[in-house]
Amino acid sequence: MLYIGVDLGTSAVKLLLMDEKGDIKKIVSGEYPLSFPKPGWSEQSPYDWYDKTIEGLKELLDGADKSNIGGMSFGGQMHGLVILDENDEVIRPAILWNDGRTTKEVEYLNGTIGKERLTELTGNIAFAGFTAPKILWMKENEPENFARIKKIMLPKDYLAYRLTGTFCSDYSDASGMLLLDVKRRRWSEEMCDICGITVDMLPTLFESFEEVGSLKTDIAAELGITSRVVVAAGAGDNAAAAVGTGVCGDGGCNVSLGTSGTLFISSAKYGVDKNNALHSFDHADGRYHLMGCMLSAASCNKWWMDEIIRTKDYPAEQTGITGLGENHVFFLPYLMGERSPHNDPAARGCFIGLTMDSTREDMTQAVLEGVAFATRDMFEAAKSTGVKVERTMICGGGAKSPLWRKMIANVLGIKVDVPSCEEGPGMGGAMLAMVAAGEYDSVDAAARAIVSIKETVEPEADLVKKYSERYAEFKKLYPALKEFFAANA
Ligand code: XUL
Repeated sequence: MLYIGVDLGTSAVKLLLMDEKGDIKKIVSGEYPLSFPKPGWSEQSPYDWYDKTIEGLKELLDGADKSNIGGMSFGGQMHGLVILDENDEVIRPAILWNDGRTTKEVEYLNGTIGKERLTELTGNIAFAGFTAPKILWMKENEPENFARIKKIMLPKDYLAYRLTGTFCSDYSDASGMLLLDVKRRRWSEEMCDICGITVDMLPTLFESFEEVGSLKTDIAAELGITSRVVVAAGAGDNAAAAVGTGVCGDGGCNVSLGTSGTLFISSAKYGVDKNNALHSFDHADGRYHLMGCMLSAASCNKWWMDEIIRTKDYPAEQTGITGLGENHVFFLPYLMGERSPHNDPAARGCFIGLTMDSTREDMTQAVLEGVAFATRDMFEAAKSTGVKVERTMICGGGAKSPLWRKMIANVLGIKVDVPSCEEGPGMGGAMLAMVAAGEYDSVDAAARAIVSIKETVEPEADLVKKYSERYAEFKKLYPALKEFFAANA
């Protein structure tokens, strides 16, 4: 049978078709615009997501054996606020995971309601990109839109709703709304009260690998496939990427270098980071995970390449880089503010340490290293919870760069396993559909059968030492600049 994985990303939707053994038959993608209506704001149209997904499905299925499609599912950008009115019309553009407008609401939640109470109710504190602060922002700033809300959902759930008619979400993605009691896997009525909404505005919850329905008959007919195709709930893109890199069960780790950068640690038991630097979320395998998220990762390199030095040849820019661990230039990757561990929407990107003999290569290197050092910040936060990580999987667009993989291995000081396929969220989505369709008994079984490692990057002792020294300097920069960022926000 063939399965479809939909990775609903921030710059594009990527769709892949694979068989039950994990052989990828085809990958297609469709880009959509991202708008920044004000500094620090980030929005997208759910209609664009749907249109590009349907276009992508048609392209993906063109030439495929359409009688053999077993199921589909999703890995979706997390935390986005999608709201529909009584006619199921989208009320306003979705407010995305990297939107920083909710400083006041985050202060109210963490300060007035209190971090302890929030952690009791949801397992997490408030961060600017989470969904609940955005609901409060709407209540205060767009009361007319707020009054029209009948349904609240996450980005991939909008696709599932349009494709199947089922108003649903899954536990991993719902964890990032700050409305879910993560430990008990149910909506928190108290959090709904705090946000001025009711539980009936929220979707029915499923495990990521459960079937939520099948394709609407008119959509199936448009695509030329049977409506009996199983649609599984899917997961937030990081949980889906973890499934796609085989990170399930206890103590697995995945680093994702996408638009955002994440450090994902799977866990059999529910646990909270007492310092609140990491999120405590449900996993798509039915268990839990801890996760740190930096808001700009591969997007820093994309910004540097596309907007500043204006080249499309990313590998060529990396060939001249030598002297790892010896760069005198530092880069702070906070181009959209920062989530983990600083929780500071006012933080900004910076180059520091430039001299007359700094080169373009030094600056490119600093960008890649800045992202690696910020990943180390999240890694240190994970270690402080007592978690032991000796190796990690890696995925996302940035993981295609051998140099960046080497930096990650040496800055973290652990082995980096490179999977045969870097398409984490799409692959995870297709695997979740396979479990829902009965192809595998569990997510773990699907991961064991499908995911393989093509290469392991070993840390090198001298480089790990040099990078530890550079990281000690990097760590001083944010605290030194924090007040400046706040004053200039
Ligand atoms: C995770 C997060 C990002 C988005 C990116 O908390 O905000 O990784 O999911 O799509």
